[in-house]
Amino acid sequence: MKFFIDTANLDQIKEAQDMGILDGVTTNPSLMAKEGITGTDNIMKHYVDICNIVEGDVSAEVISTDFDGMVREGEALAELHDQIVIKLPMIKDGVKACKYFSDRGIKTNVTLVFSPGQALLAAKAGATYVSPFIGRLDDISTDGLNLIAEIRHIFDNYGFETQILAASVRHTMHVIDCAKLGSDVMTGPLSSITGLLKHPLTDSGLEKFLADYNKGN
Ligand code: E4P
Repeated sequence: MKFFIDTANLDQIKEAQDMGILDGVTTNPSLMAKEGITGTDNIMKHYVDICNIVEGDVSAEVISTDFDGMVREGEALAELHDQIVIKLPMIKDGVKACKYFSDRGIKTNVTLVFSPGQALLAAKAGATYVSPFIGRLDDISTDGLNLIAEIRHIFDNYGFETQILAASVRHTMHVIDCAKLGSDVMTGPLSSITGLLKHPLTDSGLEKFLADYNKGN
């Protein structure tokens, strides 16, 4: 399973990249705003900064909600760097724009997916990634992980190559459960990745090994 980090914070992206386990980055307008990155020029520059840190795919989201606007914005984003993936909302024009970009060999990520039918449409339009938001479904008492299982089942039935990018991951158990269900990618905060390191038996075991080594030296 690929690990993406879901942030626009350059320090956190560097930290995950330095661990050697990072496969890409996802961003969205809210994450950009959280870092105080506003205005088209600054946002475009920030995408390039991110691409210069990480080696994998970097999702950059369009703001337009009409086909022509999405194509215009997406083409400008794709020009920025060859690691850029065009992130498009799951609406009718977003599906149409997804087909436009996939026909031209430009990578896409269809976002704000909350049902198997939406994922199927994205796959039919040739999306590189489809992003089911599992945390936001959990927030409204609906099993987000079940959506991952349903999409996996459907994609495997027909051999769709669209990768399932489990998004809105909130914690380490989401990561483990997505891996068990065969999600191709997960994107979450740095804490959902570094949290995987933790185990008290690792800490106490290491403490004992070091103490025993020091007895003989
Ligand atoms: C996906 O690409 C989104 O950026 C993200 O995962 C949304 O997560 P949230 O529900 O924690 O805001």
